[in-house]
Amino acid sequence: MRILIVGNGGRESALAMKLKDDSRITKMFFAKGTATTDKLGQNVYEETVEGLRNFAIKERIDLTIVGPEAPLVEGIVDEFKKHDLKIFGPRKRAAELEGSKAFSKKFMQTNNIKTAKAVVFDAYQDAIDYVRTQKFPLVIKASGLAGGKGVVIADNLVEAESTIHRFMIDRIYGDAGIQLVIEEYLKGFETSIIAFSNGSKLFPCIPVKDYKKAGSGDKGPNTGGMGSVAPCPDFTEENYRDFEANILTPTLAGLHANNINFKGFIFFGLMVTNDGTYLLEYNMRLGDPETQVILPLLENNLLDVINDCLDGKDVELKFSDKKAVCLVMCSGGYPAKIQTGFEIKNLEKAHSQVLFAGARNSGNKVLTTGGRVLCLVATADSYEEARKTVYADAKTINFDYEYYRDDIGKF
Ligand code: AMP
Ligand code: GLY
Repeated sequence: MRILIVGNGGRESALAMKLKDDSRITKMFFAKGTATTDKLGQNVYEETVEGLRNFAIKERIDLTIVGPEAPLVEGIVDEFKKHDLKIFGPRKRAAELEGSKAFSKKFMQTNNIKTAKAVVFDAYQDAIDYVRTQKFPLVIKASGLAGGKGVVIADNLVEAESTIHRFMIDRIYGDAGIQLVIEEYLKGFETSIIAFSNGSKLFPCIPVKDYKKAGSGDKGPNTGGMGSVAPCPDFTEENYRDFEANILTPTLAGLHANNINFKGFIFFGLMVTNDGTYLLEYNMRLGDPETQVILPLLENNLLDVINDCLDGKDVELKFSDKKAVCLVMCSGGYPAKIQTGFEIKNLEKAHSQVLFAGARNSGNKVLTTGGRVLCLVATADSYEEARKTVYADAKTINFDYEYYRDDIGKF
């Protein structure tokens, strides 16, 4: 089998590591791949949907797995299916559950899915008039894809008005800000649950804790993720039952009612409050860095699970009882201005799994190229043991301007 994995982050490195020993796979291609995937197959520099489709035809790719949201929202699955190319992911219409927060909020509301109360706005003045009548904090979201930056928690009216202006008039995120979702602020802790879909049923993985803020103690700006832990220790069985009854089951019913029968992943971004579990958002893909801690604990063969889902078969997911911790090592300054091009040293001394993201191979050296440089992943019987391993490795591995949080997996 010849496999193509689309994406170039720690998530795609984790997918590659999980698949690398499957003897049925003869060659893996990665677009554009990472310094990890470079060593496990061939990185290719195709970026557009058309380019990827032509590549898959030319290289006789048997299965394509898509990591990031952008190609899904652009319709890569529709395009591949037109050419009878096997691909795991939602069509463009289903990907709108991630690509449009207005669409997904309406979907949640019409299908009685437990979510924050919200109103959708298409006109600037209507949004301004609305926030003048509301209590704060209030959450203001650009409806379209904004690289995870289109959500602002406004603490007062001045902030709310200036956010609406920046999104709708200044268009800081382009067309993503034409429509806004303004919703009630929920207080609690966040958990991510990712499920496989076989087109008619959903099969959830273990809950994951993702650390979004740049600084230790959850301080500073939001990032693409500074670490993750599986299973999420705070998420109780009662929280899960709440998720199942008020989110998972009605989501499945809503998908059926709307004829959205995708085969791929669905990611539930949850907020657990004193009043139970709420759905903040759907992503129609694997999470990063959630994937890095889910896959090491998944005991099934990943290719079998994906193939079964593509064939519409039921799967029985099995997870180890161990705990997994992922620590992201970044270039200092991330998510703002960073400096890159530095050699990453002592990699050979690591005991954790090293998954590259913003790094590239250069001869026998590895150089930093991005904000999130690499992920260190360890599994152990306890969070503390796994945490000790990744932190010992983070101390040993060096590169200029390195930065990481000191509280990942600390409870
Ligand atoms: P979203 O892309 O909708 O998941 O929003 C990004 C982040 O904003 C979430 O991960 C939360 O940290 C925060 N957030 C979104 N909606 C709310 C809400 N209603 N209440 C509190 N925080 C929120
Ligand atoms: N970790 C959240 C995401 O992948 O969007």
